[in-house]
Amino acid sequence: MDDAGTDLAESTNDASLERTQRRSDEIEREIVQDASRFRVLTGDRPTGNLHLGHYFGSLLNRVRLQQAGVETFVLVADYQVITDRDGVGPVRDRVLSLIADYLAVGIDAERSTIFTHSAVPALNQLMLPFLSVVTDAELRRNPTVKSELDATGDRPMSGLMLTYPVHQAADILFCKANLVPVGKDQLPHLEQARVIARRFDERYGRAGDGSQPVFPRPEALLSDAASVLGTDGQKMSKSRGNSIELGMDADTTAKLLKRAVTDADRHITYDPVGRPEVSNLVLLAALSTGRRPEDVAEEIGDGGGAALKKAAIEGVNEMLAPVRARRAELTADPGYLLQVLRRGNDRANAVAEATLAEVREAMSMVY
Ligand code: TRP
Repeated sequence: MDDAGTDLAESTNDASLERTQRRSDEIEREIVQDASRFRVLTGDRPTGNLHLGHYFGSLLNRVRLQQAGVETFVLVADYQVITDRDGVGPVRDRVLSLIADYLAVGIDAERSTIFTHSAVPALNQLMLPFLSVVTDAELRRNPTVKSELDATGDRPMSGLMLTYPVHQAADILFCKANLVPVGKDQLPHLEQARVIARRFDERYGRAGDGSQPVFPRPEALLSDAASVLGTDGQKMSKSRGNSIELGMDADTTAKLLKRAVTDADRHITYDPVGRPEVSNLVLLAALSTGRRPEDVAEEIGDGGGAALKKAAIEGVNEMLAPVRARRAELTADPGYLLQVLRRGNDRANAVAEATLAEVREAMSMVY
């Protein structure tokens, strides 16, 4: 077995990152020429309501890819909720809420397949052959597993946590996705999926006439989205209580943004390194109104924090008004949300069964 530890480490070094970025730019051009060559898999854990960080960081991009004609699978990663030791909580409600967020921002259930892990047995069955081609040592070296491990302190790590990069590989490969929109921090996961696809091919062979491997080697579509911070200047996350959720009402949004951290300098500039909190509000005002942050900052000039917050509040609330209206309609009709999910699950099952049939054939396990 080759050493995926090296592969994974390499996926984040500078030269490799530059290559990945160049390839990602090339893929963007290929999408314009022929979107039908690509199939995208993306997804989220159903752990909380989506917020502006998700909106600017990934949701807009998904809608853009969908509009460009790329076939998209959107995974509601419900089995990932049990990687840590916390109970599952109201997963069902969170799943439906996530689907409402998706549809409200413009993910189209006719064009995208929205599905959950737990409803697609054949996807999960891929875990077994996939686990057979990875070692525990390489999983322990996976940067995300490592940091999850640190975050859990002294508590023992579950087997599912250790192997969740393998599960993510199954998420990507079951539908033969060849494109995964990721941030840089997710590159090791994608590399793990590529390694698994290659090793499956080497160890178990191919199905059909043997000319094509069962699984593609999925590539990264690197996001160039500006990442927005929470109201305290830290990474936006539900657990920090610093996020503006898509489903919040306008007053709550205004209240939270009014409380956002700024600094003592009344003159507003866009300087994300030197003035992260102020710049984040500038960025929110800019992104929500489709302007350049530099222009927003200049316009506000000596208006100070109050004028800046006013601009951010107005921008965000105006941008989200139609999303929120649609979301309210959707959450009032859980039957419809379930119908969307069931349709997505049916489609994901059909695709997963077809892939598993090829896997069985490659492994000489057709009886
Ligand atoms: N880990 C992702 C999250 O926490 C969700 C996810 C699960 C995912 N499987 C994936 C993303 C496969 C991309 C590819 O939101």
